[in-house]
Amino acid sequence: MTDKDTTQPLWSGRFTEATDAFVEAFTASAHFDRRLYRQDIRGSMAHARMLAAAGVLNDAERDSILQGLTEIESEIDAGKFHWSPALEDVHMNIEKRLTERIGEAGKKLHTGRSRNDQIATDIRLYLREAIATIAAELMRFQRGLVELAEREAQTIMPGFTHLQVAQPLSFGHHMLAWYEMLVRDQERMEDCQRRVNVMPLGAAALAGTSYPIDRSMTCAELGFDRPSNNSLDAVSDRDFAIEFTAAAAILLTHTSRMAEEMILWTSPMFDFIDLPDRFCTGSSIMPQKKNPDVAELVRGKTARVNGHLMALLTLMKSQPLAYNRDNQEDKEPLFDTVDTVQASLRAFADMVPAMGLKRENMYGAAKKGFATATDLADYLVRKDVPFRDAHAIVGAAVRHGVDIGMDLADMDLATLQGFSDAIGEDVYEVLTLEGSLAARDHLGGTAPQQVRAQVAKARERLDSLA
Ligand code: ARG
Repeated sequence: MTDKDTTQPLWSGRFTEATDAFVEAFTASAHFDRRLYRQDIRGSMAHARMLAAAGVLNDAERDSILQGLTEIESEIDAGKFHWSPALEDVHMNIEKRLTERIGEAGKKLHTGRSRNDQIATDIRLYLREAIATIAAELMRFQRGLVELAEREAQTIMPGFTHLQVAQPLSFGHHMLAWYEMLVRDQERMEDCQRRVNVMPLGAAALAGTSYPIDRSMTCAELGFDRPSNNSLDAVSDRDFAIEFTAAAAILLTHTSRMAEEMILWTSPMFDFIDLPDRFCTGSSIMPQKKNPDVAELVRGKTARVNGHLMALLTLMKSQPLAYNRDNQEDKEPLFDTVDTVQASLRAFADMVPAMGLKRENMYGAAKKGFATATDLADYLVRKDVPFRDAHAIVGAAVRHGVDIGMDLADMDLATLQGFSDAIGEDVYEVLTLEGSLAARDHLGGTAPQQVRAQVAKARERLDSLA
């Protein structure tokens, strides 16, 4: 865009002096809302066809508008379009160019509509596509997790609470926990889509229009579920954008938690996984470093989307009906939210299934952490010791293990019987990590066969959606 643009705004009729140069720049949005040009052109085409069907345009005018818009779209695609800040936004830039190209008919396109219903329509078309892309990427990521879970159903890792070793887990079970989070994220996105896919076009500036428009025709052509019921509401509310950003913030909260776990797991203090070199970077000073930057950035980018959610909520909260220019401020947060979610999902869908597992280290960590202490307590309960007493008995055994640096499974029977004479030879079956895992054999439990059952269920779901 050039500073010396002499183009007159399309609304300049009632004005007696030119817009202040700073105000022109301050109010312009073309440098970011040009991103909506495809949606804008699509909406204009539907509007022109409808105006012709309603007898407001003749067929020649309609055809010339459609032809002109097609050519403008190619110009923009090819990077040959001149965007003028004096024409404010994507709508007026395209409309002005249309008139330049096709003459008088171009000036009739804006009959019976306003930029207020136009922009609301554009954003909804844009967001609808963005949500579909996000849902597809979520499914790709889910599929990767399900495959990993199947392969690693039997791989044992320590499970944590308070980041202290708690009980042994199947690594596949852990991956399916991530999968479940992403399923809910997808459901939230798809639910939000129902409210996004409603058509504002026809609301015009705020009250509707005096032309005999056919909203069901534009609605069908643009693939909306239905036209909006109230013109004031249609041009003013951006709750669908807030809702999408809220769903995005929750989604990124999930990927951020996953990022945090992977970062911990790559640390030599855990040493559970190895991320492929292509997803890591080095240090300019410390030659030994291999840093999990992609995971850190996914965790970090969550912050900006949380910020965008606050921005959109705050933007909306004091607006009287109907349209206010404040709403121009919805686009940058919304676009950045879409970009951030798409990039983060792409990064993880590629990287997570490619991580290398250090299975012996995970196994060793589970063993070192007295992860089967609960199993010993449950064993005592089965031998008729009340749970509270069993808890205390095992606590004493663990304390002894800590003192002498020995896992429960490695203590001899006499030592264990020193803590309770209810303990017999069969105790060793429950003290192994494998035994502990296999014992949790119910819906939602970590037993490998339960993990495999959940994998089958997940596959069926993904196949049915594909
Ligand atoms: N650029 C505006 C927006 O993003 C488009 C609608 C402008 N309408 C108006 N009456 N100024 O919301």
